[in-house]
Amino acid sequence: MSGSSLITAVEQVIDLDRYPIDKLDSPRGRALVAFCRASLAFEGACQLPGFVRPEAVELLITEALEKHGVAYRTDDTHNVYFEPVPDEPSENDPAAALQHSSKSAIAWDLIGPSSPLRIAYECDDLTRFLGEALGMPEFHPYADPLGAASLMLFEKGDELGWHFDRSPFAVTLMLQPSTVGGDYEYHHHLRSADDENKSDVTSALQGDLPGRIKLYNAPGTLSMFRGQYSLHRVSPIEADEVRINAVLAYSAKPGDKLNQLTQELFYGRTA
Ligand SMILES: [Fe+2]
Repeated sequence: MSGSSLITAVEQVIDLDRYPIDKLDSPRGRALVAFCRASLAFEGACQLPGFVRPEAVELLITEALEKHGVAYRTDDTHNVYFEPVPDEPSENDPAAALQHSSKSAIAWDLIGPSSPLRIAYECDDLTRFLGEALGMPEFHPYADPLGAASLMLFEKGDELGWHFDRSPFAVTLMLQPSTVGGDYEYHHHLRSADDENKSDVTSALQGDLPGRIKLYNAPGTLSMFRGQYSLHRVSPIEADEVRINAVLAYSAKPGDKLNQLTQELFYGRTA
């Protein structure tokens, strides 16, 4: 069998020998979930290198590059809170510091019927595993025709500026890291529900705060990340090669969708 030409089954996409997400009740399955929960508790992130097999990674890179032309490009400024900049900010208020984010997104309805991304995202075992790992008793794939799972492309100069997420978790899959720049960097638990800790946020933005963590970047790595309280960014891509990853969206509510405004904002259209 030639590896990359035809992928139809989830075991060809996800390395189930290394990560038995289809056997979560087995001793190794339980150990895997325990490992993920411990990683998330320890540093707010869990990374599983080699989660997606190299042949599937190759196919997804090809798909992303082929569909680059139909990807929707966004280029915005925002602050770390995604809130309006205050009219009269106090000195060193991080809310006044504008961040830059730009990227191109290939929406879910453009992902091919036999794409490894579709095979993985529609796999119930993957949903169940991620829900267990993130400690969420209710965990469902998105029902959004655009935002369920997408491929993201970052060209030279693209980046995601420093920010806190609105959602409590994110699931991403690295496909093609940047050879220079394009690092996922964060400060673990820089704020809390009770304390915005603005002085340390300002120091982090100025590059003066110790404790900056860089995520592992190898192709095929699945990452779970808690970004509500951890300030994070993707640093500017400095290489000519495109950085490509996939974003997999989930919700505690079954059948959840983006509103039309958000669809328009992220994908340039509604569905
Ligand atoms: Fe984020």
